[in-house]
Amino acid sequence: MVEKRDQGLVDALAGKTILLTGVTGFLAQVVLERLLLDFADTRVTALVRSNASATARERVDYMMRKPAFTVLRERYGSEDALKELLDERVTVIDGDFTKGPPEIPKGIDVAIHSAATVAFDPPIDEGFQTNLLGALNLYEGATRHNRPSLIHVSTAYVAGVQKGVIPEGPLEHRVDFRLEAEMAMESRHEVEAQSRKPEMLQHFMDRARKEHSRAGPSTVSTDAEERRKEWVTKRLVEYGRMRARTLGWPDVYTFTKAMGERAVEDLAEREGLSLSIVRPSIIESALAHPFPGWIDGFKMADPIIRAYGLGQIPEFPGIPEGIVDLIPVDYVVNAILAVAATPPPPGEPAHYNVSSGSRNPLRFFELYEYVRAYFEANPLPERGRGEHKVPEWKFPGTAAVEGMLRHAEQLTGVAEKVVTHMPKSKAMRDAVRRVDRDQARVDFVKRYSDLYGMYTETEVVYTDDRVVELFSSLTDDDRERFPFDAGTIDWRYYLQDVHSPAVTQSLRELSKRDREKPIVKVTSRDEPVLAVFDMEGTIISSNVVESYVWTRFADLEPDDWPGELVSVFGRIPAYLQVDRRDRGDFLRTFFRRYEGASVETVDELIEHHVAEFMLQKASPAAIRRVREHRAAGHRTIMITAAAEPFVRPLAPLFDVLIGAQLEVRDGRYTGFMSAPPLVGEARAAWLRRHALQEGIELKHSFAYADSYSDLPLLRAVGNPVAVAPDSALYRHARRRRWPIEEWSMSKGMPKVRFPRPAAR
Ligand SMILES: NC(=O)c1ccc[n+]([C@@H]2O[C@H](COP(=O)([O-])OP(=O)(O)OC[C@H]3O[C@@H](n4cnc5c(N)ncnc54)[C@H](OP(=O)(O)O)[C@@H]3O)[C@@H](O)[C@H]2O)c1
Repeated sequence: MVEKRDQGLVDALAGKTILLTGVTGFLAQVVLERLLLDFADTRVTALVRSNASATARERVDYMMRKPAFTVLRERYGSEDALKELLDERVTVIDGDFTKGPPEIPKGIDVAIHSAATVAFDPPIDEGFQTNLLGALNLYEGATRHNRPSLIHVSTAYVAGVQKGVIPEGPLEHRVDFRLEAEMAMESRHEVEAQSRKPEMLQHFMDRARKEHSRAGPSTVSTDAEERRKEWVTKRLVEYGRMRARTLGWPDVYTFTKAMGERAVEDLAEREGLSLSIVRPSIIESALAHPFPGWIDGFKMADPIIRAYGLGQIPEFPGIPEGIVDLIPVDYVVNAILAVAATPPPPGEPAHYNVSSGSRNPLRFFELYEYVRAYFEANPLPERGRGEHKVPEWKFPGTAAVEGMLRHAEQLTGVAEKVVTHMPKSKAMRDAVRRVDRDQARVDFVKRYSDLYGMYTETEVVYTDDRVVELFSSLTDDDRERFPFDAGTIDWRYYLQDVHSPAVTQSLRELSKRDREKPIVKVTSRDEPVLAVFDMEGTIISSNVVESYVWTRFADLEPDDWPGELVSVFGRIPAYLQVDRRDRGDFLRTFFRRYEGASVETVDELIEHHVAEFMLQKASPAAIRRVREHRAAGHRTIMITAAAEPFVRPLAPLFDVLIGAQLEVRDGRYTGFMSAPPLVGEARAAWLRRHALQEGIELKHSFAYADSYSDLPLLRAVGNPVAVAPDSALYRHARRRRWPIEEWSMSKGMPKVRFPRPAAR
């Protein structure tokens, strides 16, 4: 039984120094804010890790500009005054507790450890490294020169997959946390070794080759290594999830937090320290402080609320009457401050469930109904095309929702096969967009129902008697100033007037911004700028085969045309196969057809006949864009796989023109190339070298291409543009928000007068 306090919280913590971790995170940043705002005589030592771009102190300075500190900023008037306040009351220590015990100075009275990895499914070693070994390091550092009372921030869900009522007490510990931590740390070594076995490496190479062989070997090996690393991470995530589930926890997060509690209890007992374990349920936006709706990033329920508002979740698994245990962040902060002022005696750890489900349960269907009503009254705008309609959930049960998901997955699988075989066209790109959208919805519901299954299907109730006692012990004034009685929360008000508007605000702003598609801005600059254009499919719709056919026909007697056509087109499937595998090989194979052709005759044919085709076939939009770049003073470059003589007609448009060089002997083409063709990553390498030689920085330069094999070229510049892209490049460009342009091409064979056949 906690006695009624005769002293307010502010007085109880006056003169004390609090060590606080996790201040750049969601929860502890508002613990810090509240301490600075209302606890004038309390000092804080904040442990923050520096990163590549900022020192620990710079990170805290930056944080003070965030919305959580609005009230404080207003009170102190200026940033400088706020900095003075920090200098006076906060000591920032740079430290990453996963790397060993941090150096904590003397004088710490209370240690509030809030920092953790809160992702549900981190790789198992990372989970243990931060949530167990890291916590132990932190306390070791904190107790080296001090005997602080410890406040360990945990989670209500450490109780694992149980049903029924969970009291505020120590967990029943059947698991050896030391062994689990040791095995988890070893697992990375094991998985890394597995990933390096020859058969695995072969598998990564095969996959990478399938996707990138046309771009070139370095792109393939980079991708293969990426795939290996991804595989390692995925495996460690799976390893963790399975280990957690076999022991009765839904995920690595709750498993490692539970092990962390055990380890900290052990340490506190050994060292004879006061320990309080604070276990919040799902922390969401503030009810009142620093202002209603304050939230930092998106927390657990928010991705689902947002996706629902966008009409993207037709159903969700979950027990309609199951309790979704939400708690506003300011209630957790206030509870932590009250706990800090009420340390239990050493050897008697106190556990607090800061939760709402026991006395003020919010059922899943109520949450749904409140949120649905909110979106019906305040629908999200649909990119300027009206408003999103929210679906009506029927709660058909997990099995039915899983069945729906499987069916939807099969459909998107079939649609994916269709779009990848569609020819390059606008219709193909529209279809890709639809398939991606459907796939993203299925993935979203699958991922979240898998991750949150336990949280939305829960039949568990966390009692909060001890928290109620603690709250009752506060003075009347403190109960008003620092509320945390979850029994009084009006869920309708909270969800409709506070939380849903807060978590959808950015979507409303985004939909305004989203209308602004990424566009190409061609502007003059003081420094030199390059504009590089791929030819086939970008400037001109024709390809190597077609340009060959034009000249070849011009050179042949009409009687021989059908034979030549059959010969070329009969081989097209074989050419395409080689082309898909390796564009360089395709060109090598194809250019063999030029063997014996007279250079003079080909030049003449090009000048008299092909030049006209080329200009007719060039896209007017492409020509306009090239001219725009020239007018802006940019140097224009065309890179093509076609033989150089055939592209000469376009030379007047470009400062530099790079095509395949065919070898000539005795005035005739040998059918070989005199240098390897510039395709895939060779284009990027050429461009980088050219830029270096000319002293040009590519970050302001432009590249235009239509094919995924040109990814290295596009990535080499600061302004990549996908022009009428193939499906793979289209997806990449959309993900990266690169401008995508549709340049219309002249269609069909141009009207050409071939030389009249000689009379026979
Ligand atoms: N959010 C919830 O719904 C919820 C619910 C129940 C319990 N909790 C518990 O509440 C606590 C705070 O959660 P949160 O939502 O505020 O998490 P958060 O936003 O992800 O913040 C985590 C904080 O921990 C710091 N951190 C992580 N690893 C660190 C390391 N190795 N060294 C130094 N600092 C490190 C992070 O610093 P960087 O900025 O450097 O990454 C960040 O400041 C956690 O213990 C969590 O388990 C949270």
